[in-house]
Amino acid sequence: MTAVGIDAVEIWTGNLKLDLPGTFAPEKDEDPEKYTKGLGLNASSFPDSYEDIVTMGANAAHRLMERKGLDPDDIGRIDVATESAFDNSKPVSTYVAGCLEQVFEGDFHHANKGERKFACIAGTQSLDDAYNWIRAGRNRGRSALVIATDTALYARGDAGEATQGAGAVAMLISEDPDFVTLSTEQGYGSADETDFLKPNQQFPSVDGKRSVQVYLARMREALQDYEQVAGDVHPDDLAFIPFHTPFPGMVRKAGLLGYRHITRDTSFEDDLADEIGRQPRSEAFDTDEEFHDALREYMDALKDTDAYQEWYAETIDPTLTLSREVGNWYTGSVHIARISALKHALEAGRDMTGKQLLVGSYGSGAQAEIHSEIVQDGWEGEIEALNIDNQLEDRYDLSWADYEEVHDVHNHDMDVDVEEFTAPDSEFVFDGWGRMGERK
Ligand code: HMG
Repeated sequence: MTAVGIDAVEIWTGNLKLDLPGTFAPEKDEDPEKYTKGLGLNASSFPDSYEDIVTMGANAAHRLMERKGLDPDDIGRIDVATESAFDNSKPVSTYVAGCLEQVFEGDFHHANKGERKFACIAGTQSLDDAYNWIRAGRNRGRSALVIATDTALYARGDAGEATQGAGAVAMLISEDPDFVTLSTEQGYGSADETDFLKPNQQFPSVDGKRSVQVYLARMREALQDYEQVAGDVHPDDLAFIPFHTPFPGMVRKAGLLGYRHITRDTSFEDDLADEIGRQPRSEAFDTDEEFHDALREYMDALKDTDAYQEWYAETIDPTLTLSREVGNWYTGSVHIARISALKHALEAGRDMTGKQLLVGSYGSGAQAEIHSEIVQDGWEGEIEALNIDNQLEDRYDLSWADYEEVHDVHNHDMDVDVEEFTAPDSEFVFDGWGRMGERK
């Protein structure tokens, strides 16, 4: 059976940066460590006034196609995964294709274009669609372009405001890929939930604390479901576990839960699933508070073991480096966690070829998916080609007044005049409706 997976990848970060301990915390009158230690974030990437999901997606895809020497004829499918779409009819992929056709010879007339939506998990669902399309033999030798692009903005004053972010990840899905192959085996945990949603609204309505519990419940179900088809997972078999990362503190919890599950630790008498999601707590505890205290005590004890700390430092922590600097990219988030881990491995001189990743994707609403990936021998070249460090360094550092202004510019309910800007060289820029994505 031909291997199918991610052949190449490129990232585009929003061109602005909001410093959380330095700028956000003082304005909110909060201890900076709430953000750096509690949530695990140093900064958010923010879109400039001339950036949106189309420009970021097109800029990432342009870089990817140029680097791989691809023409539109090489692409049989373009899927954009986003939860920041602005058009209820025309998919974002058509806007992105329009941008790319300005700079490449030929066009995407014979490519199937679409848009995927299921909160943050849509990026991984688009990978699945591409995988299935190739496996079904419908690709005619062509590759699929998958673009996960979002401006993950919250209303000002919302608890989620500190976790904002903006960026795009473009991925080329092909036969015999250079980067990673995807497993056929998948596990799902899926249930109708209303902790995070945007019904006809730009900014989400969020029950933040509950969203954390729902994430853990669905992720655990997905892991169990995955083991039904792939067999038991063992911690030593996994080089890294990139999880969906709304903020690194969330993944600290997911890592602990995953570790408890895959080491089959039974020292806690109750099943963790009873505490999270919709199921009732165990009858062994008289009150919720009693249960939560016992659970926290158990988790704290597990967290303090040498075995766990060593495993976390090797397997989970390296997946979080980029997220700490950019915040939540929604659909792109789990895909920058994978890149972050492999970038760490490259810098540490580790040979990753043939190593296994377990990838935990999640979308509110809510669904988790687990699959595994095997790193291919072109991984080093792919990671070396990324210029993510330069992109992060080049971001403009927003003052609080700048931040408020640019947040208003992106707020669809406000009619803010955008000051004339000097368009950056070699970027697609949003220049007003109807002239979207023009490349200067
Ligand atoms: P909050 O009220 O700002 O923060 O909300 P908190 O008071 O809960 O504190 C956060 C952590 O910082 C806690 O750690 C505190 O103890 C710690 P924990 O107990 O959880 O381990 N802390 C400190 N640590 C050190 N020094 C200090 C300090 N102060 C506090 N001085 C919340 C946090 C997550 C609720 C909020 O950020 C939020 O609503 N975020 C948006 C929703 C979200 O991201 N949910 C995550 C799961 S859902 C998901 O991932 C899907 C999503 O990506 C969307 C999609 O799928 O489309 C969001």
